[in-house]
Amino acid sequence: MLALVLVTVPFMGSGCYPKVAPPPVALSANSVASAATRWPGVTAGSLSTGHDLFLANCDVCHGYPDLTAIPDARWPNILEKMAKKSHLGAEERDAILHFVLASRWEQGAR
Ligand code: HEC
Repeated sequence: MLALVLVTVPFMGSGCYPKVAPPPVALSANSVASAATRWPGVTAGSLSTGHDLFLANCDVCHGYPDLTAIPDARWPNILEKMAKKSHLGAEERDAILHFVLASRWEQGAR
């Protein structure tokens, strides 16, 4: 029991690796339309860029994170940190953020 605690604790200190899931699929036309209403400046193109960037960058150090496992409110901070780890700029970070939130919405996670 003590050994288990000693093994687990160090991983809990500065955040944890995400629960992983298969890569998220492209958004439906409905989700694109809803996301474009929700965030000014978000388009089918920027959401598709966000999806591509997610697929290209977000399984490099850990598997693709399970988007449904983490609530909306935590994603801005997480992407702030993970975009830096992926050497992405603010525009790319926001494209991924909006894709993530729209995909969560499409998967029924609120
Ligand atoms: C250079 C390596 C690296 C890359 C690239 C990377 N991550 Fe991470 N990620 C980590 C590490 C290390 C952790 C665990 C510790 C931490 O939070 O820093 C983590 C943790 C996470 C978590 C769990 C955070 C929490 O607090 O529960 C999520 C979600 C996540 N990453 C998403 C992403 C997404 C989305 C991308 C693509 C934009 C990405 N990561 C790219 C290294 C990386």
